Amino acid sequence: MNFEFHNPTHLIFGAGTLSRIGEVVSKHGKKALIVTGGGSVKRNGTFDRVVASLKNANVSVAECSGVEPNPRITTVRRGAQIARNEHCDVIIALGGGSVMDASKVMAAAFYYDGDPWDMIYHGQPDPYIPTHALPIITVPTLAATGSEMNMGAVISNEESKEKSFVQAECLYPRVALVDPELTMSVPKDQTAYGVCDLITHVTEGYFNGVDGTPIQDRFAEGVILTAMEWGPKAIADGNDLEARTQVQWASIVALNGWVNAGTNGGYPVHMIEHTLSAYHDITHAAGLAVINPSWMRFAADHRPQKFVQFAERIFGLKATGPHDLDCALQGIDRFEAFLKGIGCPTRLSELHIDDTMITRYAQDTLRIIHDGNGNLPGRPPMTEANIIAVLKAAL
Ligand code: NZQ
Ligand code: ZN
Repeated sequence: MNFEFHNPTHLIFGAGTLSRIGEVVSKHGKKALIVTGGGSVKRNGTFDRVVASLKNANVSVAECSGVEPNPRITTVRRGAQIARNEHCDVIIALGGGSVMDASKVMAAAFYYDGDPWDMIYHGQPDPYIPTHALPIITVPTLAATGSEMNMGAVISNEESKEKSFVQAECLYPRVALVDPELTMSVPKDQTAYGVCDLITHVTEGYFNGVDGTPIQDRFAEGVILTAMEWGPKAIADGNDLEARTQVQWASIVALNGWVNAGTNGGYPVHMIEHTLSAYHDITHAAGLAVINPSWMRFAADHRPQKFVQFAERIFGLKATGPHDLDCALQGIDRFEAFLKGIGCPTRLSELHIDDTMITRYAQDTLRIIHDGNGNLPGRPPMTEANIIAVLKAAL
């Protein structure tokens, strides 16, 4: 596909770079709103190090703590209000994807008089696409979403049971200050979910994109193989800085626009998962680990060639030809076994989700996003019945 690529985020990457936070932020503002999650950065000392560095650089500080996993619009409203009341001129997102996503929408809400939920695409005819935001500095403490270097944010509405996204140029962070040492305290389960999330960001483009993208295919396979090699090492030993570093870089590359450029893929697995986590508040990538293999089996039936390529290049299987469905399915089985092996759930029942609301999940997903024919974009596009079948196969 023809495409344009422009990612303006200035990336500073490497162990020890957190010490530069004061110097970096002082180029963008004089008073920072530091946004944090449920307390991990306070417990492990990262927050204090950031505040000390800001103080040395003459940057004063306000705080919005308590961003929850699957960040809520109520928290976004609260944070934007603090930023206004405190006259902040820059936002530091110090945490995982949830903190970074909430910070992005707070930064845009700062300049918006309406309700920030207007920005989150949830099927409304005229979503508000923000054009201005406070400068955002991301400091990820968990390798997973790639939010530190992309223009997306995913927010939940606990009242309406919706979880969806906004994408806007103004949400690109000015700087992503990425210090893999900060991820060494991430527990095993969240480390594994991060590996699953980053791989799924790549598989969505790989399997849903157009044909004839050999370079993007090789990039995607490189990210997947790297994550499969180094992810288990980071899970086995959280203090393995080299493993933490490789996984973090993989997570950034996976969703900063580069790997999927020109592939024009949809994100059906993500869209279905977002509906599940809106209802059940499950960890994003725990949901992905369940849905992705089930979706793959459905899609392989329609287009085995790409899944055969995946089986051969990722798992070294030998196909009898490009339409060898058995080989394609074996590759998917191996992938599912990998996810299980690193500790991810692979059945909905493990997430305590049964079949009682499956039709509702399918309908809600399609209400939020659909193509001109009422199907979920992807390859192949999914009807309501297809979504239900994929979920039933994952029970
Ligand atoms: O809240 P704290 O106390 O910080 O604890 C968090 C949270 O409990 C903990 N954690 C983070 N860093 C830690 C740590 N614990 C110990 N040491 C550290 N260094 O990990 C838990 C999960 O954090 P969260 O931020 O929720 O995880 P993640 O980074 O996986 O973000 C998930 C959110 O991002 C959205 C997801 O839907 C979900 O809402 N996504 C955002 C995307 C984007 N903006 O591009 C794309 C993704 O596909 C995804 O949808
Ligand atoms: Zn994801």
